[in-house]
Amino acid sequence: MIVLKSPREIEMMKKSGEILAACHKELAKIIKPGITTWEIENFVDQFLKEHGAVPEQKGYKGYQYATCASINDEVCHGFPRKDPLKEGDIVTVDMVVNYNGALADSAWTYAVGNVSTKTEKLLEVTKEALYKGIEQAKIGNRIGDIGHAIQTYVESEGFSVVRDFIGHGIGSVIHEKPDVPHFGLPGKGPRIKEGMVFTIEPMVNEGTYHTQMDDNGWTARTIDGKNSAQYEHTIAITKDGPIILTDQDSLS
Ligand code: MF3
Ligand code: CO
Repeated sequence: MIVLKSPREIEMMKKSGEILAACHKELAKIIKPGITTWEIENFVDQFLKEHGAVPEQKGYKGYQYATCASINDEVCHGFPRKDPLKEGDIVTVDMVVNYNGALADSAWTYAVGNVSTKTEKLLEVTKEALYKGIEQAKIGNRIGDIGHAIQTYVESEGFSVVRDFIGHGIGSVIHEKPDVPHFGLPGKGPRIKEGMVFTIEPMVNEGTYHTQMDDNGWTARTIDGKNSAQYEHTIAITKDGPIILTDQDSLS
């Protein structure tokens, strides 16, 4: 069942999204060679506390951290750890914020110092893919239109879209219906309706889209050891089109 949200509920999720977006903007300033994902984890934990919000991922299905911090070939759900990031690395920081019971979810990939031209392109294409997906998130379209737009664009740029992890509805819990794949056929899937709130979160790989699971049961990485990037927003469907609840650019 797809739970539709009222304008009031969307407004509450937007407040949550604003805290999350502000946190990412701070991370952009502090992520550089030498920092550890453990320090990033503690920064986020503290930032959310200071803003009266709760890190929703902590304790979710036994996950122990406020953030997922996925480095280089790690696709998602990397654990924060104590070895420093190096110049040329990329790191995806993903978090879910709970503010007064309303959730928002957003991931961002950061370049650590200078990265290779190829890696720069991977980040650019992945971010652009997210926005191409968001463009399709309008009343009357179908969920499949989102994934189709993303996949077509990513593959035209010579990269691949991860199949094993997808976007999802979100509200008072992290994972709701609908499923939002970042690949597939146009005109398929549920029709997009006013009041839907879901994430779009393409993970894009430099090489093959196949992933393998680490022994920790959480962290997925590429099977060829090549880099993977991800940008994720939580969006709400309104009569006037999609609203990006986790938008960083609209913050003052
Ligand atoms: N933020 C993730 C997503 O985009 C969910 C993380 S699940 C957790 O879907 F257990 F790692 F928290
Ligand atoms: Co997320």
